Amino acid sequence: MKINLIVNHNHYDYYPRPDEYLIESLRKLGFQSVKKGCDTTSCGVCSVIVDGQLVPSCSYLTSRCDQKEVLTVEGIPEEARHIAEFITAEGVDQCGFCSPGHVMAIHALKLELKNPTMEEIKHYLAGNMCRCSGYEGQHRAIKKMMEVE
Ligand code: FES
Ligand code: FES
Repeated sequence: MKINLIVNHNHYDYYPRPDEYLIESLRKLGFQSVKKGCDTTSCGVCSVIVDGQLVPSCSYLTSRCDQKEVLTVEGIPEEARHIAEFITAEGVDQCGFCSPGHVMAIHALKLELKNPTMEEIKHYLAGNMCRCSGYEGQHRAIKKMMEVE
């Protein structure tokens, strides 16, 4: 079946297999910021935004995306740079493998919550795991960023 896949505001005529997940389709189309980690909806590195909602693309069927707006980190370069500035200012920048999904989760958080508490930030980002560092600095950076916006 043909679907109209909209990624970062560009339209694609796309023919997904019935069992094809969005992560595979996005990478085939060249959006290689989207990474595969656990492949079981546990780590968040594959996170993208579909119609304003954060989803794990490893478990979201591409066939569900007909006419939906899919956003990856390639589609928000200014926002990604802005978020990275606050993260690096705290000295807690993460690697290229987990950062894209983390940035998408932070962007989704900003779309959903205004002036979130630290507890809300931690709860929202609980599904985005870094395998090699802590989280306190990242949470502090996000709180500071949202306080000045
Ligand atoms: S690869 Fe999708 S949640 Fe881990
Ligand atoms: S910094 Fe990327 S997984 Fe830890």
